[in-house]
Amino acid sequence: MPKIQFTYGNENKTVEAETGKTILQVAQANSIPMISACGGMGICTTCMCMIEKNPENLEPATPAEKNMGLDGKINRLGCQARIKGATSVFL
Ligand code: FES
Repeated sequence: MPKIQFTYGNENKTVEAETGKTILQVAQANSIPMISACGGMGICTTCMCMIEKNPENLEPATPAEKNMGLDGKINRLGCQARIKGATSVFL
């Protein structure tokens, strides 16, 4: 399973993730404090995060992300970005 490194506050945590899961799902499953005010509907932006490494290891931007002007490279919605391989996420 791909390894996902999360950086938040002064902490770093690396976890294994099932491919096809969203960054938000992986964060929540590992007690990483990613906010999701709309519950993952892709409308609130509270799950916005920065992809520090390997943005190509995420599925392309979804229509919800494109509607917000996100190109699917550096800034992603955690609830929309699905994992294909190892990456690094800054909250
Ligand atoms: S949780 Fe609301 S946009 Fe992702």
